[in-house]
Amino acid sequence: MPELYQRKRYYLSAIVEHLPAMKSGLDIGCGNGEYTAMMLPKVEKLCGYDISPGLLEKAKADFAHEPRMNFYLADVNAIPENPQSFDVVLCMGVTSCVIDDNKYRALIGQIADFAQENAFVIMGDTLSHSQNLLLDDPSGYVAMYRSMDYYLATLRENGLELVSEFKIIDSHGGRTANKLFLFWKPRRAH
Ligand SMILES: C[S@@+](CC[C@H](N)C(=O)[O-])C[C@H]1O[C@@H](n2cnc3c(N)ncnc32)[C@H](O)[C@@H]1O
Repeated sequence: MPELYQRKRYYLSAIVEHLPAMKSGLDIGCGNGEYTAMMLPKVEKLCGYDISPGLLEKAKADFAHEPRMNFYLADVNAIPENPQSFDVVLCMGVTSCVIDDNKYRALIGQIADFAQENAFVIMGDTLSHSQNLLLDDPSGYVAMYRSMDYYLATLRENGLELVSEFKIIDSHGGRTANKLFLFWKPRRAH
């Protein structure tokens, strides 16, 4: 869907433009690494994790010339990185692939945990305007479009503050919208 793709790139680059220079970034469910690469102007070193060997192969081949990015195979719930070690964490288009709610909640907890204090978190997802919607397509494609309220509450419960949100596109006859969010992990009172 070219419109979705173009708008996502447009809004992501607008977010990136407003971010400070940072040392380390993590992209969870990085796919072919295209959006990981959009962080390069602001982030010294990036790593991307995905469960798809094919997409990782493409990411590695497309960005073989870029030593500041590395791509690895891992499940979202088993990423071997240290807590509080990233200045920016991305997770785009992934939570709707995670159907099980415990796994989803664990993922959001890990995203918040990988971010250090004062770090940014960029999330992108298709979300439902009302209750959670499970799409079980005859093609075999399964997705969970979580309710916006529930999604935002999960991120808030994990200590992430919403900075800004952008609607990329409406879908499913207006029942869902694809959105991009910028969160910030504030410094905890010690
Ligand atoms: C819709 S794609 C988004 C890719 C990329 N972040 C983007 O925005 O273009 C969802 C990605 O999540 C990955 N993914 C889905 N479930 C995963 C899991 N359990 N662990 C790791 N990656 C997963 C898929 O392989 C796919 O690359």
